[in-house]
Amino acid sequence: MSKNQDFSSLKISTEIRERLQEQFPTVIALAACPPEEVARRCEINKKSAERAVNQARKQIGMAEPITADELLEKRIAKPRITTSSQQLDDILGGGLSVGAITEFSGAFATGKTQIAFQLCVNIQRSIEEGGLNGKALFIDTENTFAPARVAEMSYSFTDDPKLFLKNIYVSRAFNVDHQIQIVEKADKLIESNNIRLVIVDSMASHFRAEFPGKDNLPRRQQKLMSHAETLQRVAEAYDLAVMTTNQILSNPDGIFAGTSNLEPALGFAWGHRPTHRILLRKSRGTTRIARIFDSPELPEREAVFHITPQGIRDGPPLDY
Ligand SMILES: Nc1ncnc2c1ncn2[C@@H]1O[C@H](COP(=O)(O)OP(=O)(O)OP(=O)(O)O)[C@@H](O)[C@H]1O
Ligand SMILES: [Mg+2]
Repeated sequence: MSKNQDFSSLKISTEIRERLQEQFPTVIALAACPPEEVARRCEINKKSAERAVNQARKQIGMAEPITADELLEKRIAKPRITTSSQQLDDILGGGLSVGAITEFSGAFATGKTQIAFQLCVNIQRSIEEGGLNGKALFIDTENTFAPARVAEMSYSFTDDPKLFLKNIYVSRAFNVDHQIQIVEKADKLIESNNIRLVIVDSMASHFRAEFPGKDNLPRRQQKLMSHAETLQRVAEAYDLAVMTTNQILSNPDGIFAGTSNLEPALGFAWGHRPTHRILLRKSRGTTRIARIFDSPELPEREAVFHITPQGIRDGPPLDY
């Protein structure tokens, strides 16, 4: 993308420019936003929003297609975030990707939140150590964020866990609208704090609770899709990783029909949104199995990992 990412070169009125800058910290963030959302957030008409977005896209070179070899080079150059399990990293193609949504689903205690905590620590490490020198935004819908547990995981890298805890922004989401709003309003926080990881733990709880049954399905899907759009937008605009967790439900005719009655919740429409989808299941003791089952570039494979006092690891705890 071009270096000339400046609001002042957009041919728009001063008033509109000011409103845009209030909502979008960078031209990239503006370019990645659908014009309808720009119009709503900035309280300007749709035509002005479209003009501004189109100019922003042109300015950062998003309006023109690029060739596949250029794209390959860009993708290869992107660092991955380690999960602290070599096996889990391997099935993810080297770790969690930036610019994408990665979903971890599974029954209770399969390790979804533990992986999220581990990533909140690891994102802060250097690129050589499997991080991005960045910070994390943890959107907590189930009130399960546990700072003491994150501190326990960070002892592997420091004697002072506060150094890690102070780089994790925790937002407790109280309902669907609040959850959506937190991401919609996160641009400034992300930009000014170098946030490179956004976690939504879990994507499912509020949506399932507030929109139960078939009658509510269209409204649920509509809100879910708009939330997914915003998550994808921030992932691409700020080159950050989005990690979501999901519950599972029983559906004999579901996506794994014939092999398993269980499938991730939130249905078909949501299912297309994460770039990579991983299903976790329990095995003996601390052992967990992760299966990547839907990815445009990674084969279906399984990894075995453990939840240890130190965090996610390939092997069991030493005294186990
Ligand atoms: N300090 C710790 N040391 C070792 N293992 C731990 C520690 N804290 C939690 N665990 C293990 O992690 C597992 C819980 O994992 P996690 O919280 O990630 O579940 P989850 O998949 O998010 O479940 P839910 O759907 O209920 O949110 C439990 O098996 C628990 O024993
Ligand atoms: Mg959890």
